[in-house]
Amino acid sequence: MATQLFARNVTGFREPQSADAKEPHSDKFRHAFPPATANRSPCPALNTLANHGFISRTGRNLRFGEVIQAINHVYNLSHPFCVLLAFGGFITCGRLRLVAPRFNPSPIHGHQVYNRPSEQSVWSKLGDRILGAIGFLIGLSPVSWTLDLDRLSQRGFFKIAHNASLVHPNNAPSTSPDPKLLADFLAYKPRVEDLSISKPTSFKLIDIAKYHELRMDASHSKPEGIHGRIASGECALMFLVLRGKGRSRFGDKTTDGAVTVSHLEQWFGQERLPDGWWDLGEDGLRPQKTIKISDARELAVKIEQLGKAHISHP
Ligand code: HEM
Repeated sequence: MATQLFARNVTGFREPQSADAKEPHSDKFRHAFPPATANRSPCPALNTLANHGFISRTGRNLRFGEVIQAINHVYNLSHPFCVLLAFGGFITCGRLRLVAPRFNPSPIHGHQVYNRPSEQSVWSKLGDRILGAIGFLIGLSPVSWTLDLDRLSQRGFFKIAHNASLVHPNNAPSTSPDPKLLADFLAYKPRVEDLSISKPTSFKLIDIAKYHELRMDASHSKPEGIHGRIASGECALMFLVLRGKGRSRFGDKTTDGAVTVSHLEQWFGQERLPDGWWDLGEDGLRPQKTIKISDARELAVKIEQLGKAHISHP
């Protein structure tokens, strides 16, 4: 049974009294902390989607298409990447049930629900169409494939949850950030090498890599094999979606940029989209360039290498 720690307001954040006027979706997609009856996961990305209503706010009976569409729309991950992530979650923790066939072609199709924040590429439009067609076919099938978010906290060889998480305890199913681990993470003082590109209040890739390695060291049973790669992959994804537009003037486009501590606190702690997420132009946080599977895979390898090279082991 997963720990249902629904004291979710772990950082004492107060809901703003009026909706952020810059958020294009206004009230319908406004952040709200989940009620005690809601169902949440160990994944900050999915909990954030539920807390904003991009997927069901209850966190129960999520449909495959609903999840793909929301990840694609909010985090700007490529369609194949969204399918891969959702498939991993549904195949390991989802539920298949026989239902009366229904005619419901809409749940997967982006344009019917969201205003796209920017011009879509031809490939992205094509991806939407293909997923729309799949949604149409799923709507006709007598089988329902759904996911309750808390099932993602299940542990085991064929599950996703693992040790050495950034804000979740080892060896226990968890669906809410652990306040102590969260505070330790946010208080980790990154090394400041060059104040012109890295402020003490933000994490560069090297800092994420070092903290990840420290969390690996703190686990008696370290995540290995696929679980090890999932853990570094989650760090990579977090960096790619929260680093803003990667405005650094130098070097490697995949590794530049930095994540501010306040954005980490908003996303991991309050499980909401950080300030300025939907802003257009240079200040906007939502990734402008679509994130591909290869981006996350390459960055995950880099994170593992950097962490091992910079943290000395006893
Ligand atoms: C359907 C898609 C997804 C599924 C099924 C999923 C599943 C999970 C699970 C089970 C965990 C817990 C791992 C653990 O700590 O034991 C997790 C953590 C995490 N996920 Fe997701 N996830 C999905 C999408 C995403 C996306 C789109 C992002 C980023 C935009 C993301 C970022 C993260 C991060 C950063 C963590 C680490 C939390 C921590 O270390 O404390 N996930 N995810």
